[in-house]
Amino acid sequence: MRIILLGPPGVGKGTQASRLASHHGVVRLGTGDMLRTAVAGGSPFELEVKSYMDSGGLVPDTIIIGIMRDRLAWPDAKDGYILDGFPRTVNQAIALDRFLSEHQQKIDYAFNLAVDEEILIDRISGRRSCPSCHRVYHITYDPPKQTGMCDCRTPLMQRKDDSLGVVRQRLQVYQREAEPLVQFYKQQGILMDINAGGAIDEVTEKLKLS
Ligand code: AP5
Repeated sequence: MRIILLGPPGVGKGTQASRLASHHGVVRLGTGDMLRTAVAGGSPFELEVKSYMDSGGLVPDTIIIGIMRDRLAWPDAKDGYILDGFPRTVNQAIALDRFLSEHQQKIDYAFNLAVDEEILIDRISGRRSCPSCHRVYHITYDPPKQTGMCDCRTPLMQRKDDSLGVVRQRLQVYQREAEPLVQFYKQQGILMDINAGGAIDEVTEKLKLS
């Protein structure tokens, strides 16, 4: 099973990608997490990539396409994956198609998750993430067993790009890139619109049934 999750910041792509990956027995490939891990050092390249992320912009296509071509070729992705955060531009989608045809693979579904902007802000402002296992919580809707602590015993963090100003910038970038990408997958006949406004379990059920 190969699935793409599209949707704005905070809609629940990472949350649902982990659940779908377990359900289908495939890997979750989240470009946000991959990039955050990749820029943990202080080399000039890492600092450059980090600056795009911290300001709410997109990392250049050439960089992310190179990273993903490499990652998609790992043995654990041979039989399927859930893509969370990639592709984000039509150029990235074209590069993904090229990889798929080179490897005689195809995407089964592109789920387009949507909710109102005020819900996105509410979800993002309550998000807490584990820097170690990357598990994502919400202080109200999906709290950890112990406040401020991941269930793996690592202190939880708030992402630097979750400040309101940067979130607004990320939403603007999303609005600019989203429509052509949605059209790209609509034309391929694999796009499914999903109302992601319900509780986490309800959204998971919709995605499993689709
Ligand atoms: P990335 O980390 O991918 O950020 P994003 O796409 O902006 O998405 P988010 O992680 O903010 O949200 P999400 O939809 O995954 O929601 P989540 O499940 O966490 O990317 C970060 C940056 O990296 C980008 O800005 C860019 O710079 C760079 N980047 C990444 N990919 C790139 C690419 N392909 N090209 C170029 N640059 C790239 O949920 C949010 C919160 O809501 C959580 O607290 C969760 O618990 C809660 N929640 C989830 N679902 C529900 C629900 N149904 N009800 C109540 N609460 C819910």
